[in-house]
Amino acid sequence: MTVLKTEQLCKIYGSKSNMYYKALDNIGLTIEAGEFVGVMGPSGSGKTTLLNLLATIDKPTSGYVEINGTNPAQLNNKQLALFRRRKLGFIFQDFNLLDSLTLKDNIILPLVLEGMAVSEIEQRLLKTAELLGIRDILHKRTYEVSGGQKQRTAIARAIIHDPAILFADELTGNLDSKAAKDVMEALRNLNEHMHATIMMVTHDPFAASYCRRIIFIKDGKFFAEIRRGSNRQAFFQQILDALSLLGGNFDDLSSAGIQ
Ligand SMILES: Nc1ncnc2c1ncn2[C@@H]1O[C@H](COP(=O)(O)OP(=O)(O)OP(=O)(O)O)[C@@H](O)[C@H]1O
Ligand SMILES: [Mg+2]
Repeated sequence: MTVLKTEQLCKIYGSKSNMYYKALDNIGLTIEAGEFVGVMGPSGSGKTTLLNLLATIDKPTSGYVEINGTNPAQLNNKQLALFRRRKLGFIFQDFNLLDSLTLKDNIILPLVLEGMAVSEIEQRLLKTAELLGIRDILHKRTYEVSGGQKQRTAIARAIIHDPAILFADELTGNLDSKAAKDVMEALRNLNEHMHATIMMVTHDPFAASYCRRIIFIKDGKFFAEIRRGSNRQAFFQQILDALSLLGGNFDDLSSAGIQ
């Protein structure tokens, strides 16, 4: 089943001084249910632009987006807000958790607001927290846990309403390598055991090596695509090779001492 489809997707940023910038040029993309897809490309290549169009945060200049059978361009603002809340999940670099709440309350807040039955909420919470390895710390507040635990809490919150697709933008960007590994293993668990469909943008080849398919973009255009075989280590090397072909500015790579 196809969860996400784009055709000839373009985004032109304009300004009053007649300066136009084509940030995305003719992107065609299909994501099937249960896929775990990474998007990589040099800084400024259009990754966040693409994610914002798919996440219905911004509108394309031209082209077509369909998610879970719906074309967001045909929804009014109220319908769009509902669509986003019920069908999409988001994970951000800086977690976006509410510091005054416990991890549990952060995770279940969207379901409470939807008016879901308490027993159903508890059941979903335990299943999700178990898969993400945060079951024993649900009573803690956000300032009492580590960055990796915060991000796994944010993942739980993003998935608990069972969205059609989960979007993540640089979700390991604020984490050290151990926490990043824990977070990516948690995400892999969700993908493998709950068949969560995931699309994540990342600079980090290690994080990307957990995906099963990577799409590389350059100057707003599709550049290449690779798929993982059974070996994550080999995939990691393939990703490094693709990035060196791609060129551009990979600040994170050099600062992580990988290049
Ligand atoms: N609101 C905007 N107005 C004008 N230009 C924009 C706007 N947002 C992004 N751009 C330009 O569009 C291009 C793509 O930006 P985008 O943020 O999608 O890149 P990115 O691949 O996410 O980069 P990074 O890896 O640095 O996050 C860049 O050249 C950027 O300067
Ligand atoms: Mg970006």
